[in-house]
Amino acid sequence: MAAIVPRISRAAPSLGGLTRATPRVLSGGALALRAAGVVLLRTHSVNKSQPRYMSSRPSPPAQHDVTQTPAGGILPEFDLSGKVIIVSGGAQGLGVVQAEALLEAGAIVHVLDRQPEPPAGSIYQKVAQRARAELDTSLFYHQVDVRTGVNNLNSIVEEIAEKHGRIDGLIAAAGIQQETPALEYNAADADRMLGVNVTGVLMTAQAVARQMTRLGSTGSLVLIASMSGTIANRGLICPVYNASKAAVIQLGRNLAMEWGVKGIRVNTISPGYIVTEMVQKLFIEYPEREIEWPKQNMLNALSKPEDYRGAAVFLLSDASRFMTGADLRIDGGHAAW
Ligand SMILES: NC(=O)c1ccc[n+]([C@@H]2O[C@H](COP(=O)([O-])OP(=O)(O)OC[C@H]3O[C@@H](n4cnc5c(N)ncnc54)[C@H](O)[C@@H]3O)[C@@H](O)[C@H]2O)c1
Repeated sequence: MAAIVPRISRAAPSLGGLTRATPRVLSGGALALRAAGVVLLRTHSVNKSQPRYMSSRPSPPAQHDVTQTPAGGILPEFDLSGKVIIVSGGAQGLGVVQAEALLEAGAIVHVLDRQPEPPAGSIYQKVAQRARAELDTSLFYHQVDVRTGVNNLNSIVEEIAEKHGRIDGLIAAAGIQQETPALEYNAADADRMLGVNVTGVLMTAQAVARQMTRLGSTGSLVLIASMSGTIANRGLICPVYNASKAAVIQLGRNLAMEWGVKGIRVNTISPGYIVTEMVQKLFIEYPEREIEWPKQNMLNALSKPEDYRGAAVFLLSDASRFMTGADLRIDGGHAAW
């Protein structure tokens, strides 16, 4: 199975490299803020290095002084150095690849997953080793079921916040999939699907937002939805999965509305088909899908987990500081015909 999962990070361009290619200029955003009379102040909040905007008019909560470009020319808005970010479902698949992107951008990452810690030789352990040896940061693992272990989930997230004195973000990627025709779906399976994909995401976002609220800090939460939350997938019989992902998109909007006043942003990512272990198993059972699915989008291709690295760093960082309540659909144009 591992052999057919796309390679992570080493083949992909580093985010640092990508951002370094951008010329060192004062960003348009910074100029606009200066023109608007916005003053950047250091605060006494949890992270003393994080400035906040003070203005007589409403302005987005920012955590980065965009006028200060660090040495090397990296766009400062994308820098996650020192930020503490939780990734649920990060033992494998999309979650572990997004975790690696966050580590490359400087974050400390804590993975929550219902599986026991992945063994030596797994992609997760390779990423953890790379974090220590190459990236000068850390990847931590916590076994918890986001649906059935809610008390445990809250304790773990509180411990993380206590350990670092801060918590800055979340990617809620834990999710399950089930293919069953609607006429045959039983209530227990439907409850399980909605329980993990909707209630589990809500409980995870709630646990993180509670700690941000307790610490008086701002942050960014990203919920992994799917293009299946917007469309019915041709020939893929997943009525409850699709309903669960529509619920995630809507949940994101409501959480954004409730928590925006606290400076906590909430957005969703809606991927198209990603060739992860989950999808690779389907291709063994239904080989025709590997041929048909790419034809259903405008790029005539299937995506890899690496295709969502930039989106993860963008949404978790100050680069997206005025963005909340949005769904970032990245599907090769599948839903845009
Ligand atoms: N693969 C795709 O084509 C695709 C497309 C769109 C959206 N997504 C979404 O992306 C996310 C990641 O998918 P993936 O393809 O990497 O799947 P995956 O099965 O490879 O990974 C999912 C991870 O979530 C964990 N998990 C599942 N239930 C959990 C629970 N109750 N508590 C804690 N952890 C739990 C699993 O152990 C696993 O590590 C999911 O939300 C999925 O719905 C996937």
